[in-house]
Amino acid sequence: MRRPLIAANWKMNKLIPEAVEWVAGIQRLLPGLPDAEIILAPPFTHLAALKPHCKNDSLKLAGQNMFWEPQGAFTGEISGAMLKSAGCEYVILGHSERRLFFHEDDAGINKKISSAQADGLKTILCVGETLEQRNGGQTEEVVKSQLQGALEGIEDKGDLVVAYEPVWAIGTGLTATPDQAQEAHAFIRATLGSILSPEASEGVRILYGGSVNQDNSRELLNQSDIDGALVGGASLAVEKFCAIIASLN
Ligand code: PGA
Repeated sequence: MRRPLIAANWKMNKLIPEAVEWVAGIQRLLPGLPDAEIILAPPFTHLAALKPHCKNDSLKLAGQNMFWEPQGAFTGEISGAMLKSAGCEYVILGHSERRLFFHEDDAGINKKISSAQADGLKTILCVGETLEQRNGGQTEEVVKSQLQGALEGIEDKGDLVVAYEPVWAIGTGLTATPDQAQEAHAFIRATLGSILSPEASEGVRILYGGSVNQDNSRELLNQSDIDGALVGGASLAVEKFCAIIASLN
């Protein structure tokens, strides 16, 4: 019922020529891979250059962030409408690196989701606990309050994706076990049921993120509440990223 979604989050990596080569490479490989929605979130500066290389609808573009205001004197910021006009269908919001290094909080993320919806962008909302919080038995409490804060007053119009990314697993080589991830995803789905509606929560895709690679992806993607992956490090090499897509089989 939920179409699998595999997203590449390049973070602050690659220059434009290398990015164009990656896109050409994935377009060659995708026809041989299982059906899934495939999304690439490159740096902002690459979007307009990559758009003409994203043929048909097999590869979609996403922004890695945006600001909530539609325009104005906000030096260094990017609006949802700008992402849209550069060819994006999606935007990643609330990534833990944004929360940690740029002090983003749930209230600001909430404003960004509203603004993304107004601009017709779909949101990939990231949530997840730190190692300290997990060890303190606070995983569910933290994830629930992130979801409640970010989604307050938001209606799902089929444009919401959630990514569960335990902070301790991002870029560390540590992954949640398939059981740990499934448990968190089931909890997220139940929580979305109470925030949105039980029907809406059944339709929301919940991605796992945190050191996903071709060796661990199959077991993770096999879990009933894991609908895809948000991939950082292993998305930089196109063959490695495609091997993750292939493990959907
Ligand atoms: P990682 O990053 O795959 O390098 O752990 C995932 C993410 O931060 O989205």
